[in-house]
Amino acid sequence: MKRYHVTTFGCQMNEHDSERMKGMLESIGYREAPDPDSADLILFNTCSIREAADSRFMAHLGHAKRRKRERPGVVIGVGGCWAQSVKEEVFRRFPFVDVAFGPGQVHKLAEFLTSDSLTAQGYFEFEGFTGELPQKRARDFQGWVQISVGCNMVCSYCIVPSTRGREVSRAAEDLVAEVERMASEGVTEVTLLGQNVNAYGRDLGKRGLPAANFADLLARVDAIDGIERIRYTSPHPQDMKEDVVRAHAELGALCEHIHLPLQSGSSRLLKAMRRTYTRERYLDRVALIREHVPDCAITTDIIVGFPGETEEDFAQTLSLAEEVGYDGAFTFVYSPRRETEAATFPDQVAHDVKVERMERLVEVIQRGARQRAQRFVGRTLDVLVEGPSRKDPTRLRGRSRHNKVVNFTGLAQAGEFVQVDVTSATSQTLAGEESLVARATG
Ligand code: 5AD
Ligand code: SF4
Repeated sequence: MKRYHVTTFGCQMNEHDSERMKGMLESIGYREAPDPDSADLILFNTCSIREAADSRFMAHLGHAKRRKRERPGVVIGVGGCWAQSVKEEVFRRFPFVDVAFGPGQVHKLAEFLTSDSLTAQGYFEFEGFTGELPQKRARDFQGWVQISVGCNMVCSYCIVPSTRGREVSRAAEDLVAEVERMASEGVTEVTLLGQNVNAYGRDLGKRGLPAANFADLLARVDAIDGIERIRYTSPHPQDMKEDVVRAHAELGALCEHIHLPLQSGSSRLLKAMRRTYTRERYLDRVALIREHVPDCAITTDIIVGFPGETEEDFAQTLSLAEEVGYDGAFTFVYSPRRETEAATFPDQVAHDVKVERMERLVEVIQRGARQRAQRFVGRTLDVLVEGPSRKDPTRLRGRSRHNKVVNFTGLAQAGEFVQVDVTSATSQTLAGEESLVARATG
């Protein structure tokens, strides 16, 4: 029996794609190896979003090369966004790589492995959704659902439109059937994935498929028996319309959390980023969310040190972050990416300026998140148990509907929903105890 090992870099879409790679490999008789050293097939699912992702992967690739020298029969495969962005060049730069494929070509891996030809092969044209392949889920009760691939936006910093291509949505019927199947297998929480989820469905009519938009899809998934929680990532503020915001108030399973990527609080920079909204329009979206779902957690992505960012632009980002009071944020130092518009902009920001601004931003974000988190202290929250707490294995760890990590004492098993009395909060996590009252009453 042949064994595989997959190392995954990057976003949740890549995590999802890796689960599908594993499912597909198991369907052709492969089994998972605990580490690359004992694998016959060493796979990397790569990311290219920032330079750091590239360099981390290079270090892993170096190890794989040494393993192949020791055991020449080992097959090395490279999939995902980095592979897509360098294409055939991968074989010239790394001759020990046997197979390379982009995010729309995962199924070709099985073809390659079952064919007689063992010469280096690359597959880079979009052909199919990984969501249609068998899935090997990391957790029985949580599942990812790929609703679309690609992105039609042209954010000037972003490599994704060139790696994941134009937006293509999957038919709503297929998605509903997939979630129904997941629910019958015990999945209670689904996360809908796409590069721009709320643009979902716009291309369906043109492709002769029944019309559907993102709000419709949310309602149809909400109606599926057994699905207790729905999450999605990531939406674009431009397409965050009232129907989707209202859905958070109206659909029982849709969680009180919206990740709304900001990138910058300066309208001037947003324009240079080609984000298609202004500071005011973004704040207006936040106001809409707060109006319909007052308790909704709002998180974001922010880029620091985009080309041309002045102290004044940066001050606008800080003040917007203060004004919104995010429940959490991913903050990134701008990283020039090959073949993106912003990489060619003349006024790149000096590294030490980027680092200094990042420190100031993180301080504001953490202060805001800590304050926001205090609203949970004294409340009893619905928590989906994920397993033992990372810091203290005698305690449990789970997530609230607001996507807050909750560490607590209790007796529940992974996959159970429990009520937790929250006793304290930091910017990152909540702490508490399983509610005795709720357990006694069931
Ligand atoms: N440099 C830094 N951060 C980036 N992101 C995307 N491209 C870049 C880049 N070139 C960030 C954005 C996006 C998140 C997934 O990664 O904030 O929302
Ligand atoms: Fe990385 Fe973006 Fe590709 Fe995800 S879609 S793996 S974040 S480059």
